[in-house]
Amino acid sequence: MSANIIDGKAFAATVREKVASKVADLKNAHNITPGLAVVLVGEDPASQVYVRSKGKQTLEVGMNSIEHKLDPDTTEEALLALIDELNSDPAVHGILVQLPLPSHLDETLVINRILPEKDVDGFHISNVGLLATSQKSMVPCTPLGCLLMLRDYHGSLSGKNVVVVGRSNIVGKPMAQLLLNESCTVTIAHSRTVDLPDVVRNADIVVAAVGRPEMVPGDWIKPGATVIDVGINRISLDNGKTKLVGDAEYESCAAVAGAITPVPGGVGPMTIACLLANTVTACCRINNLPNEESFLQ
Ligand code: GUN
Repeated sequence: MSANIIDGKAFAATVREKVASKVADLKNAHNITPGLAVVLVGEDPASQVYVRSKGKQTLEVGMNSIEHKLDPDTTEEALLALIDELNSDPAVHGILVQLPLPSHLDETLVINRILPEKDVDGFHISNVGLLATSQKSMVPCTPLGCLLMLRDYHGSLSGKNVVVVGRSNIVGKPMAQLLLNESCTVTIAHSRTVDLPDVVRNADIVVAAVGRPEMVPGDWIKPGATVIDVGINRISLDNGKTKLVGDAEYESCAAVAGAITPVPGGVGPMTIACLLANTVTACCRINNLPNEESFLQ
């Protein structure tokens, strides 16, 4: 068997088109332009790449992009003051503080300073609680992207056995909550899970989100299962070059799976597309406007 490829790159382009069309409506009908503020503290190279890409795509869909690049030694006080300023700025509808923060800054404190309705990452404790209790919330972008692809491929997810490998606050835990809300039977597996290969072999759907290159081999996959690979890992090759690989071993998994997301071109592009969608959702909610392109509720 050779797996169907779930094309996240193409899917993300359709999400961006919907976002762009909604942005145009908001401008024409209400004279509102959604604005996304991205805050980067320090010079982490990977974070710089992500922030640049977020800014570029924000502008491409017609929204305003506000970027704040702060020195690595920025004080917590200064960062919190900036968040307060963005919270009260009516032109800013979404606020994203790029993680990880330098170690002298308290991530939890900083994230929880963002107004929940502007928290387009869905990391604020209020949004975490709302999602966990199946209420309207801002939903973290990467798990939202995975869910949209799964819904598109499978239709109903009700009753599916899903194993989420990884228990991070950013992906694993919210992914499990979203799938539970879809009436899946969800297992969260992690580094201490006993007999991980056997646990994964039970899954109709595997979401690999551990951040370890090619950790999930094909012989852990039930024939015909769907593999959603959240990992983006850069590895060195023998010839001195580097390449991006996921958390699943692509060739061996694709040989047994029914469907699989590639790396690159799978989950990655959906994450930023969902960030743009969340910003439109936040803008509509803040302005009490209907949001027919809300992708969840
Ligand atoms: N760093 C890695 N992924 C993310 C994300 O989804 N949001 C933020 N803010 N930082 C990240």
